[in-house]
Amino acid sequence: MTIWILGATGRTGREIATRVAARGGTPVLVGRNADRLGKTAADLGLDDVLVTGDLPGAIAKYRPTVVVNTIGGYAETAVPIARACLPGGHYVDLANDLVAMPRLLALHEEAVAAGSTFVTGAGFGVLGTEAVVAYLSAARPTPSQVRVDALPSVAIEGGRLGEALAQSIVSGLTSGGLRFENGQMIPTRLAADPREHALPDGQTAKSAGAPTGELLAAHLSSGAPDVVATSGLMPTARVVRAVLPLAGSLLRIPALRRFAVRRMAAIEAKPAPRPREHSWGHAVVTWADGTTREGWLRAGDAMDFTSSAAAETAVRLARGEGRAGAYTPAQALGAELAEAAGGTFVICQP
Ligand SMILES: NC(=O)c1ccc[n+]([C@@H]2O[C@H](COP(=O)([O-])OP(=O)(O)OC[C@H]3O[C@@H](n4cnc5c(N)ncnc54)[C@H](OP(=O)(O)O)[C@@H]3O)[C@@H](O)[C@H]2O)c1
Repeated sequence: MTIWILGATGRTGREIATRVAARGGTPVLVGRNADRLGKTAADLGLDDVLVTGDLPGAIAKYRPTVVVNTIGGYAETAVPIARACLPGGHYVDLANDLVAMPRLLALHEEAVAAGSTFVTGAGFGVLGTEAVVAYLSAARPTPSQVRVDALPSVAIEGGRLGEALAQSIVSGLTSGGLRFENGQMIPTRLAADPREHALPDGQTAKSAGAPTGELLAAHLSSGAPDVVATSGLMPTARVVRAVLPLAGSLLRIPALRRFAVRRMAAIEAKPAPRPREHSWGHAVVTWADGTTREGWLRAGDAMDFTSSAAAETAVRLARGEGRAGAYTPAQALGAELAEAAGGTFVICQP
């Protein structure tokens, strides 16, 4: 029942390993540098480590029960690592973009045939919004429209931003804006539809349209043909929104993209407390007869929720609780996974 944490020296890898151990799982810290890995193991008080430069090869050889991928670059890394878990091994990642997630989900039939469960998007944005959609639409017909808003609040640890996170930010900008209309994903303006939310705790937060995994997860978990998704991480200021499409086009040029990732990865962030007490996932679900339901998922720090969501998913898969196939987290394990990760549903009365 071993749970391998790939990228164990990184920010999320360390947190997930600690949370897996706290939930009674057996984490193995996996990395490519023996010194960094040894230091992480000593810091965390965990003994099982594996140094390897060939992740798919090591997985195929040692057959861990579950692999948690926190090395990032999911559009390229997820499929070979997930396939190495077949047959019977399970896979979890924290992807949140519309290139990587569809590639992993396309392995559904292979995973079913091999008795493996693959979960992509086991982080705050995807789980925090799709769980609200699933909660609101449970035991009801397929809705006609869904709107989701991911409003994370995150404390900044300080230190280098790092390549894995920089790659995720840049890939979000290059895909342009997207939404679902009549069941098809269609282009829209990046940072479209800015809005200010009155949060259930009395505070406010802003968000704007974002081409993130929340959009796909809300569509898959509800079946709704029309879906829009916004994120609190998108800029809402008019002047910044005006230049975003141009910045996104420029970053599609490979050399500029590599340069931007390198420069962004080297940024030294200053430590800062989280701006609001709560992170919120929000959904508004509408049916063809005009019925509308609205709800929220309240969590603390979004990074803490992400680490707990990934650890909880891994431990449940290790216990054999997942269905075979490739899914988003609430599709694989139900909306209550979000509660087990530290969230609380707040449903608005009609
Ligand atoms: N969906 C969400 O809510 C969410 C939340 C947080 C993070 N994430 C995503 O999760 C990923 C990890 O984020 P992070 O902040 O933990 O990053 P990080 O601190 O930079 O850690 C990345 C880890 O991956 C390892 N690594 C990177 N490239 C590798 C490669 N090619 N082969 C083997 N190991 C490699 C690094 O090892 P070395 O020490 O050897 O460099 C490090 O241990 C990112 O893609 C990020 O966007 C998603």
